[in-house]
Amino acid sequence: MSVLEVIEKKKHGLTLTDREIADTIDAYVRGDVKDYQMSALLMAIYFSGMNLDEINALTKAMIDSGDTVDLSSIRGVIVDKHSTGGVGDTTTLILGPILSAYGLPFGKMSGRGLGHTGGTLDKLEAIPGFNVDLSMKEIVRSTNDIGMAVAGQTSNITPADKKLYALRDATATVDSIPLIASSIMSKKLAIHGHCLLLDVKVGDGAFMKDKKSALELAKTMVGIGESFGRKTVAMLTRMEQPLGRAVGNSLEVKEAIDTLCGNGPDDLTELCVALATKLIAMAKGDEDADIERKVRELLQNGEAFEQFKRFVKNQGGDVAAVEDPSLLPSADQSIEVYSEKEGYISAIPAHEVGILARDLGAGRVTMDDVLDMGAGVYLHKKCGDAVGRGDRLATLYGSGARDMEAARRRYLDMVAVANEPVEVKPLIIDEVDHGF
Ligand code: URA
Ligand code: CA
Repeated sequence: MSVLEVIEKKKHGLTLTDREIADTIDAYVRGDVKDYQMSALLMAIYFSGMNLDEINALTKAMIDSGDTVDLSSIRGVIVDKHSTGGVGDTTTLILGPILSAYGLPFGKMSGRGLGHTGGTLDKLEAIPGFNVDLSMKEIVRSTNDIGMAVAGQTSNITPADKKLYALRDATATVDSIPLIASSIMSKKLAIHGHCLLLDVKVGDGAFMKDKKSALELAKTMVGIGESFGRKTVAMLTRMEQPLGRAVGNSLEVKEAIDTLCGNGPDDLTELCVALATKLIAMAKGDEDADIERKVRELLQNGEAFEQFKRFVKNQGGDVAAVEDPSLLPSADQSIEVYSEKEGYISAIPAHEVGILARDLGAGRVTMDDVLDMGAGVYLHKKCGDAVGRGDRLATLYGSGARDMEAARRRYLDMVAVANEPVEVKPLIIDEVDHGF
């Protein structure tokens, strides 16, 4: 069947066969199917959707387009967590040490940040000397020896997804649930593992702005995971305001350290405890209440932080800078933002704060941009907090010729203050497992 007939079928809302999907993706990666033809097919998928069989076939075609990573020589149940992208989301740096201190191997491949979301590798590189370029052998050895490793991707995983994602970005077809679900899951399933926990973000700072579409995305991804034999659970979590108080690389490393020492912001701590508890329950089948008590203990008794230091040392990072975060890279300018109104904070839009942090130097517009590790935003007030005129809302950090006064104005303009007390909705909205 030619690609034209495949496009025609999907245009009319018909179901594509596994073969049609596999051949089309294969031909696209080879260059035989052109970008303009794939663009038409993507738009047809956007409007007509795909059923789970088609989505599984698309996921498989993307996995088969590249290498797969064999982590089977890591001893024990291999767990992974994936967040669909938030602002100030430092959870991997906290979750990894908790899980490995609990006795679960945590060998993870992470990514870099682009646009308004940060990447785990960038945050780790804020620690002087930290090396994210590990070979597969080194990931396996570190995970077996000290229980934990986080590295960038060395192998050529899902090249079809890379090519398709760039095309979707240029053709307004990113926000399609079958396309997002297969894109994310192909990358996760190309790497060996047993349990996968998805943190599906809902709200202003996320791909999915409302609960209904987030729930559909979560069910689709859990369906794919289970079809491929991976135990998969999704948690829907709120991403209206940034997670925790810190947005920016050094700032988030410090926040992760505080959290690992039991002194983190409430929302970040609660999310990490919930994610860790769920993953451990998936891997070990223990009772949730027992796990949660033990997880909190690991944060209070310093064991999770000890594990983090072991991990940093093992990957060449400067442990002194982790013990004393004032040694982490810092920006050479800062400015305080004081409230001009009195009342209750009703919105701190995550997406806009992410863009502001990016513009201050904490993130990238293109993959070639060099990060300022010290740049970012620190929130002194969060949604629901009472503020008076002149109270400090945030501190902004940047370097060089940044216009800090303009950044201050931007922050002040994006924060909403209400006259009446504001109810803060729970961070964890819902959970989707195989039985949905
Ligand atoms: N993240 C991905 O990896 N793919 C998407 O399509 C959307 C978010
Ligand atoms: Ca944060």
